[in-house]
Amino acid sequence: MKYRKLGRAGFEVSDIAHGLWGMSGWGGSDDRESLAALQMAVDLGCNFFDTAWAYGDGKSDGLLGKILSRNRGKRLYAASKIPPLNQKWPASPRDKYRDVFPSAHVFRHADLIRGKLGMESIDVLQFHVWDDSWTEEPEFRQTVEKLKKDGMIRSFGLSLNRWQPENGLRALRTGLVDVVQVIYNIFDQAPEDKLFPLCRELNIGIIARVPLDEGSLGGKMTLETSFPADDWRSRYFGPANLAKTLARVEKLKSVLPPSITLPQMALRFVLSNPTVSTTIIGMRKPDHVRQNIAVSDAGPLDVALLQELRNHRWDREPKRWSD
Ligand SMILES: NC(=O)c1ccc[n+]([C@@H]2O[C@H](COP(=O)([O-])OP(=O)(O)OC[C@H]3O[C@@H](n4cnc5c(N)ncnc54)[C@H](OP(=O)(O)O)[C@@H]3O)[C@@H](O)[C@H]2O)c1
Repeated sequence: MKYRKLGRAGFEVSDIAHGLWGMSGWGGSDDRESLAALQMAVDLGCNFFDTAWAYGDGKSDGLLGKILSRNRGKRLYAASKIPPLNQKWPASPRDKYRDVFPSAHVFRHADLIRGKLGMESIDVLQFHVWDDSWTEEPEFRQTVEKLKKDGMIRSFGLSLNRWQPENGLRALRTGLVDVVQVIYNIFDQAPEDKLFPLCRELNIGIIARVPLDEGSLGGKMTLETSFPADDWRSRYFGPANLAKTLARVEKLKSVLPPSITLPQMALRFVLSNPTVSTTIIGMRKPDHVRQNIAVSDAGPLDVALLQELRNHRWDREPKRWSD
């Protein structure tokens, strides 16, 4: 396993990391299998885990807390998120900051998360949504400064809305944000335009999420694929998106070198970018953990393939089904 610095947060984190949304927020998950997947990740050197209060109303923070307590001798890093009070994904400029992240709501959830994780100080606490129109709100600054001053968190982050990698650039310049979480994969390359250069300039850590495009880059989906109704992907991979996505996945398969699989190429694409600190992959199955962690040591893709993958960029607009 290779490790990279999480920007100014300063943590040495595994470049392959674990995302807990699926195991706590999607139907069809099995807690025993999920815990086995998490433990296998720890055993193979993964030390960074991304969770959120909204993933099962504390369930995901609780699962991670179990893993942290079973592995006390190891330095594992936990990133969690404060849910928006108004429960709206994504945030919009029409929402008022005070209706989304009022300080009492933030502190209450920071406490709840600390309790579930069994941690005095949360390594990375993120706001789960963001709109840059909130940047100058005095309450934003006061809240983040107090979280840090009181030792409730070690670093603060923003999780940017799906397909809006530039809706956060102003906030990054406030000096309050240490880490940013953004969708980045072979399709969603737009963070390279403005977000990544700014993060480099300000030494802000980058958590690249959804590296497999919610699973399409796992390469196993077909036009017949369907998900349980309580799995969010039943909406995401609905009629407006499934066929279009699979057509693009087929094009990618045609440029796949013989010795690597589609998920390996997808993860190596993300890690080929040295600005990325770590990528969080949803992995409920131990087999996926084993396969994905092996990618860390494989290193960057060759330059010609990276160049070819530039042609597979897919800029998308947020839609109701993508929330
Ligand atoms: N707003 C936000 O802040 C936000 C939104 C979305 C995601 N996230 C974070 O980002 C993490 C990652 O995103 P995600 O889980 O939504 O999507 P993802 O990582 O792009 O894809 C996860 C899917 O890929 C499958 N998979 C994993 N490894 C595979 C492999 N080697 N071959 C084939 N399929 C494979 C997983 O299967 P199994 O699960 O069955 O193993 C799961 O179905 C989340 O868990 C969460 O922590 C945050």
